[in-house]
Amino acid sequence: MAVHLVIRIAFILLLTCELAEATPPIAKPNCRSSCGHLQIPYPFGIGPDCYLDKWFEIGCNTTGGSAKAFLTSMNMEVRQINISSSPLNRHYSFVPTVQVQIPIIYSKFCQLAGNHSVTNISGSPFNFSASDNTFISVGCDNFATIAGIFPKVFGCKSDCKRDSKVDKEVTCSGFNCCESTNIPSNIQAFDVEFRSVNESNDREGVVVKGCKYAFLVDQVWLKENKPDPSSVQYWEYVPVALEWAIFQRNNHSREFFNLLKNSRKVCCFYPDVYTFYCDCAPGYRGNPYVEGGREDNDLNHCGNKLDCENTDGGYICNKRKSKSKKVIIGMSPYLLNYQNKYKTKNTNHIVT
Ligand SMILES: *[C@@H]1O[C@H](CO)[C@@H](O)[C@H](O)[C@H]1NC(C)=O
Ligand SMILES: *[C@@H]1O[C@H](CO)[C@@H](O)[C@H](O)[C@H]1NC(C)=O
Ligand SMILES: *[C@@H]1O[C@H](CO)[C@@H](O)[C@H](O)[C@H]1NC(C)=O
Ligand SMILES: *[C@@H]1O[C@H](CO)[C@@H](O)[C@H](O)[C@H]1NC(C)=O
Ligand SMILES: *[C@@H]1O[C@H](CO)[C@@H](O)[C@H](O)[C@H]1NC(C)=O
Ligand SMILES: *[C@@H]1O[C@H](CO)[C@@H](O)[C@H](O)[C@H]1NC(C)=O
Ligand SMILES: *[C@@H]1O[C@H](CO)[C@@H](O)[C@H](O)[C@H]1NC(C)=O
Repeated sequence: MAVHLVIRIAFILLLTCELAEATPPIAKPNCRSSCGHLQIPYPFGIGPDCYLDKWFEIGCNTTGGSAKAFLTSMNMEVRQINISSSPLNRHYSFVPTVQVQIPIIYSKFCQLAGNHSVTNISGSPFNFSASDNTFISVGCDNFATIAGIFPKVFGCKSDCKRDSKVDKEVTCSGFNCCESTNIPSNIQAFDVEFRSVNESNDREGVVVKGCKYAFLVDQVWLKENKPDPSSVQYWEYVPVALEWAIFQRNNHSREFFNLLKNSRKVCCFYPDVYTFYCDCAPGYRGNPYVEGGREDNDLNHCGNKLDCENTDGGYICNKRKSKSKKVIIGMSPYLLNYQNKYKTKNTNHIVT
């Protein structure tokens, strides 16, 4: 049993991030690595034994023309999977994310009112990203708040009065549409309550008819697509960013974690005692969760005038003409910070 487990784990992975340039594998061996145009990196995977645990199982629906990837555990369409920070911009605030489609919440006076559906992913290792998403609501006499986060109150107000002081030219600044960034962190359910801006309407049971709706949306997607907020009223879904981590609740994922954390090519983080995620260490890139294969020192970070000497997780550049003198230590201040942070997190939170 023990031997079996060790062999299984050794087979699955480890070794992780490659030095740059080569194209490292992203999925487990003998597993599909894409669904349509979307790459599916491990711990996500399609088919038996290709994903880490049920939360990372991907279904690929190819009926109806274009292929669509789903997180089967939550029945959500996946649009993007982000597994490690950019090799050119490694930073220890990195948190892995997926971009998924979630339903817009409509009040009862909307055309799509019957389709009001709460997104509730509590119990999963996914959270709505507080930094990547923004909250938007559309409607008149509208005070929209995220439900179920008491004692916190989070939301925004919009109105359609002609004499309103808000700048009507700026989208979602309060005229018929409002926006609030800095949404609460770690929320796992999204439902919205719609009230009146005029409190006496609510108190006296005056029902202001008119469609109000609200959604969380990925800010990068919003900037790139600039949808007219009032046209969104006829959509069902919008893309939202979820942060994710891996549960270490069984031997399999704990062993996986121990192997990863002992690799110098990856740095692992622990949002809490039950979960972890990893990133490539500075100098490495690829999928931190799969075997890297080749490990060539074919990297040249230093440009043509310098020789590059790869070290584990970094590189040292030597001036060609005077080899004795080291001029740049490619990994210096950043890596030190990274490792200090890593160690601090490690001692504070780790459970083995
Ligand atoms: C796959 O997509 C088609 C068309 O979009 C849909 O009718 C079908 O229900 C989907 N199947 C699954 C398993 O989601
Ligand atoms: C996330 O991954 C997608 C590809 O799936 C990429 O286009 C996008 O830029 C990435 N976003 C971030 C924030 O790294
Ligand atoms: C919303 O739900 C109604 C009935 O509940 C259905 O007729 C309609 O097709 C749904 N809208 C969309 C866009 O699926
Ligand atoms: C989400 O589901 C959990 C348990 O399944 C429940 O306790 C919680 O109230 C739900 N949240 C919302 C906003 O529906
Ligand atoms: C998600 O939120 C829960 C609390 O609701 C927190 O314990 C967990 O660490 C968060 N997970 C991630 C991946 O941030
Ligand atoms: C609020 O609504 C009440 C009726 O419910 C109305 O008499 C009052 O003028 C409204 N106040 C404002 C500021 O619009
Ligand atoms: C998990 O590991 C512990 C100690 O390492 C062991 O006692 C236990 O039997 C293992 N459980 C399974 C299901 O392998």
